[in-house]
Amino acid sequence: MAKREIKEWELVYTDWDPEQQPLREALCTLGNGQIATRGAFEEAGAGASHYPGTYLAGGYNRLETPVEGHVLGNEDLVNFPNWLPLTFRPVGGDWFHIDDVRIDEFSQRLDVYRGVLHRHVRFADAEERRFTLATRRFVHMRSPHLTGIEWTLTSHDWTGEIELRSSIDGGVVNANVDRYSDLNNEHLEVLECGFEGDDAFYLTVRTNQSRIRMTQAARTRVFDGQDPIAVDRTRDRTDASAGQILTVACRRNKPLRVEKIAAIHTSKDFAISESRKQACKGIRRAATFTSLLEDHMEEWEQLWSHADIVLSDGDVETQFMLRLHIFHLLQTASPNTIDRDVGVPARGWHGEAYRGHVFWDELFIFPFLTLRLPELTRSLLMYRYRRMPEARVLAAEEGFDGAMYPWQSGSDGSEESQVLHLNPRSGRWVEDETNIQRHVNVAIAYNVWQYYQATGDMEFLSHYGAEMLLELARFWASIATYDADRDRYEIRGVMGPDEFHTGYPWADEPGLNNNAYTNVMAVWLLRTACSVIDLLDETRREHLRAGIDLADEELVRWRQISSKMFVPFHADDIISQFEGYEKLEEFDWDGYREEYGDIQRLDRILEAEDDDVNRYKASKQADVLMLFYLFSSEQLVSLFDHMGYVFDPAVIPKNIEYYIRRTSHGSTLSRVVHSWVLARADRGGAWQLFRDALRSDVDDIQGGTTHEGIHLGAMAGTVDLIQRVHTGLEMRDEVLWFNPLLPYELSDVRLRLRYRGHWLSVRLTDDKLSVTFDRGPSPAAEIGFRDTVVELHQGETHDFTL
Ligand code: BGC
Repeated sequence: MAKREIKEWELVYTDWDPEQQPLREALCTLGNGQIATRGAFEEAGAGASHYPGTYLAGGYNRLETPVEGHVLGNEDLVNFPNWLPLTFRPVGGDWFHIDDVRIDEFSQRLDVYRGVLHRHVRFADAEERRFTLATRRFVHMRSPHLTGIEWTLTSHDWTGEIELRSSIDGGVVNANVDRYSDLNNEHLEVLECGFEGDDAFYLTVRTNQSRIRMTQAARTRVFDGQDPIAVDRTRDRTDASAGQILTVACRRNKPLRVEKIAAIHTSKDFAISESRKQACKGIRRAATFTSLLEDHMEEWEQLWSHADIVLSDGDVETQFMLRLHIFHLLQTASPNTIDRDVGVPARGWHGEAYRGHVFWDELFIFPFLTLRLPELTRSLLMYRYRRMPEARVLAAEEGFDGAMYPWQSGSDGSEESQVLHLNPRSGRWVEDETNIQRHVNVAIAYNVWQYYQATGDMEFLSHYGAEMLLELARFWASIATYDADRDRYEIRGVMGPDEFHTGYPWADEPGLNNNAYTNVMAVWLLRTACSVIDLLDETRREHLRAGIDLADEELVRWRQISSKMFVPFHADDIISQFEGYEKLEEFDWDGYREEYGDIQRLDRILEAEDDDVNRYKASKQADVLMLFYLFSSEQLVSLFDHMGYVFDPAVIPKNIEYYIRRTSHGSTLSRVVHSWVLARADRGGAWQLFRDALRSDVDDIQGGTTHEGIHLGAMAGTVDLIQRVHTGLEMRDEVLWFNPLLPYELSDVRLRLRYRGHWLSVRLTDDKLSVTFDRGPSPAAEIGFRDTVVELHQGETHDFTL
């Protein structure tokens, strides 16, 4: 078992464990919403236990590979040059590498409060010379083009000359995900490298299809304390790397401090003529490590002042894990991301799994951001808005109207889902049909609406949001078909969120009919879209309707479809995941658990046995239960009533119980949803699922996926569980409502929220909810508690007794 200590703000590894290193690299990634660099060591190139990766938000490139008679095209998140390389050797000795020395002491510490990664190694080299190396690293949160490393190197028993080798490595490929290893992975062309002044060098690369240019310029200096030391420098350059070797005297017990600062610019930057010019200018102007670090820490402190969720129960582990999740969220999407034309990737910019693509996971990620940094959510929604022309083409190609967003989205909004994927268990390439998850098109609409609810941002709604809602409604109205026998509308040939079910075991074509989640969400959207039109002022309404050619008859049809949508039920009030679900076989959960232990990825196990998970009542993740995650029971009653069904909220627990027993949690999103829906009925069970979801990445509970990237949806979802479920927070009728219920394990939670521009501080204890209206654009804010509304003035606190 790896040695790990968790503190309120720190994750500390106290041993060097090569097997754990890939996981630690992902968890110790530093990023600023534009650039992210894995927590690989400076001296290490890619190898069995090391994988330095530097990624640019939205930095994609497409490559093709012939596989089994298909030409597979994949748009990947590119691993850009490695700016980290730094190592040393006593002249004539071996270059330092963690794998080649005897380690006497080791610790690695991620400080999430300050955004700094530390390492401390005391070691002896092959000639028994003993050294201590202490390192610190940042990826600057305030100046997003700058990154920095500081090394403090002390020799304990030796005096002599050392050489320091500092470089930028452009000879990197994408090799973080084993399953992708048969696919082409060389995305970069090195264009130029050179030297800037006495102490800096640069390297420019270009992606070979998307033509993104990136220049990294790095400056290396050596100090005695804060005083610069004169060093001899020689140029160290290969076809794919630029660097310098610095020769310097090293005296026993006299620490040498080495600073490496890098400036990273790309052709996607704003206010730039050319990346080399900008990076060289950037590195010439960059301040010292110490002063940059101070600025960086100050920025993090400011972010934490609104982002933190404080648990004052002494449960340090839960506290830290929530903070780790907030930290990685803010490293993936931060104020630096605003206006960058990037979406929020399911796996962060932390690794190469899912190729940096954007999925429906936004649904889980936005609520945390919207209630603190709404301008960031707006920017991430604009990523979708700008890709609406492509979504219209996708809809038309499939014979539908309106806009149909792809299941996986990358640079230009085309469908980026893979068509074949490798089952690592069987070694077989299997057809991937998951792109028929059209429900991403209700998630996007839901996100637009929630953003508007939280902010009241009419300018966004009227110029962008409404158009998205209307075009999405149009898509759903056109995919719905009328069944005269039933006298109801249906949605056929799609998949719900549960990725184990891609089609009927008895059918040749993929696709399921009447996925309950999709149908109900489509109804919600068709109704919402009709009411949105009325929110717009007359001029905008006319303009928009003329622009998208929206006739009154379409609205009539939307109303008709929404009031007659079909929803399947079976076995006494169980909402069927999809029509025909009840005909599937029950799965032998106990037998398989006994045989395989971990059966989260049952689909892969069964495929390797020449069986098919589609045959069974077995889900990878919450599907029907998503309805209880997104809607209150009152909202569901109203939706079902609108469709002409009687829905009694008393059947909710029965549905939860039914599906929970048939779910493997093969997606990390699943536990978040289950914990959410159980929060009021089964506090113990909900807490257990919450704890498991919290551990998803830090303990890599999927057995080896986190090193390929964190699971951002689960990270955000756990934070949102505290933020919304336990406070009972709802945005309804222009009021922010609370209806708290803490889990038994928590007794004091503090957080800050921004609702409609107002900053509120919330404190929740066992017997009291205190809400303070800190400041905001209007003198009063309306706060609802259970069924009463109070008006709070700036500076006032109101205590509600629980
Ligand atoms: C889940 C999807 C999710 C995707 C990206 C898959 O394993 O089944 O629901 O969108 O991962 O996180």
